[in-house]
Amino acid sequence: MTVGTRLLRADDMVALFREVGRDALMDLMIEELRRTFRDHRHEDVEARTRDGFQYTKPDLGLLEWMPTHEIGGPVVVKMVGYHPTNPVQRGLPSVIATSSLWDTTTGELLAIADATLLTAVRTGAASGLATDVLAVDAPVEVGVVGLGAQAVTQLHAISRVREITRVRAHDDAPEAAETFADRIAFLGLDVEIVGTGGLRSLVAESDVLVTCTSVDIGAGPVVPAEPGRPWLHVNAVGADFAGKIELPREMLERATVFPDSRPQCIAEGECQQLAPEAIGPELVEVIKAEADHRRYRDERTVFDSTGWAVEDDVALRLALRLAEQHDLGSSIQIECVPSDPRDPYSFASTPDAAAPRRP
Ligand SMILES: NC(=O)c1ccc[n+]([C@@H]2O[C@H](COP(=O)([O-])OP(=O)(O)OC[C@H]3O[C@@H](n4cnc5c(N)ncnc54)[C@H](O)[C@@H]3O)[C@@H](O)[C@H]2O)c1
Repeated sequence: MTVGTRLLRADDMVALFREVGRDALMDLMIEELRRTFRDHRHEDVEARTRDGFQYTKPDLGLLEWMPTHEIGGPVVVKMVGYHPTNPVQRGLPSVIATSSLWDTTTGELLAIADATLLTAVRTGAASGLATDVLAVDAPVEVGVVGLGAQAVTQLHAISRVREITRVRAHDDAPEAAETFADRIAFLGLDVEIVGTGGLRSLVAESDVLVTCTSVDIGAGPVVPAEPGRPWLHVNAVGADFAGKIELPREMLERATVFPDSRPQCIAEGECQQLAPEAIGPELVEVIKAEADHRRYRDERTVFDSTGWAVEDDVALRLALRLAEQHDLGSSIQIECVPSDPRDPYSFASTPDAAAPRRP
């Protein structure tokens, strides 16, 4: 008996966002990540190395799959595209994604959902969690470099774990810099936009720094090698390609660097610049050692965020649960499941031949 596929379309996600509320959704995502990380055991959840297709024609981009398998439970696969010319050339986000949930008893597709909004929220939430655990325990001055889609949820998430007293921001594209204040108006914060000449003081005067740029491969770093405050915490979000980095090596060497996924960060993140022995524990390990984690708050720390598939697993399951609570979404029958499992043509001999079985 087929169960059909739960579908969360764009309009369901918008309704979910409105009904749950922007702040509540971010808070729930941060807490779901915290709980999942605390309980996480690598032997219980298999997160396969992400892989995909990278190309330079017609423009630089990639499409990749990010799979997880809860042993004895479902498989989640997010398909994500990164096309940094999208905002300027096509009026589309750089990151567009879809998530799917698969039944490992039968192989059926249980759910499919937009993951474009979810990716932005979970990427913000991961930095919010890292900031909560690693940043100074006081009101913070925040610097943001790269003012695209992720910058909005990065600042939102940080605002949920710390009071923000000042925001200074930089983007080398004027249209991104000019529109940032409007996009984060919901936070009620003033934003000082600084030019390239102000980057050194932006770093020097931040308690929390976020880098979330679409800098080209080989064109980083995007901030100067300024030591910053002795407790500076950095969420480095943009490096997710071999050869793409945002932070100067000196900044990494002065700090403890916490990868989201060690092998992935060595392949694509800021950890590309470090010898294995110079890399700190994964964020998940710090969260698991709960009693210990506050000790990093007065030190220089970097969260090397490349986007861990487990975060997408958490995001999809949270969205499905919230959709159920708010009676959102629909069910469709995608897979052509015959009434006789041994006869793929069995529908042909029934009077209602064209109609598939409804979930
Ligand atoms: N870690 C994660 O989980 C995760 C998740 C989603 C996206 N990302 C990455 O984060 C980055 C930003 O994503 P987005 O969706 O905000 O992209 P976006 O295209 O919306 O914004 C990127 C911004 O960076 C700016 N930029 C590029 N080079 C710069 C430089 N040298 N200095 C200052 N600004 C610069 C661009 O002008 C643009 O405004 C991308 O690299 C993306 O791959 C990471």
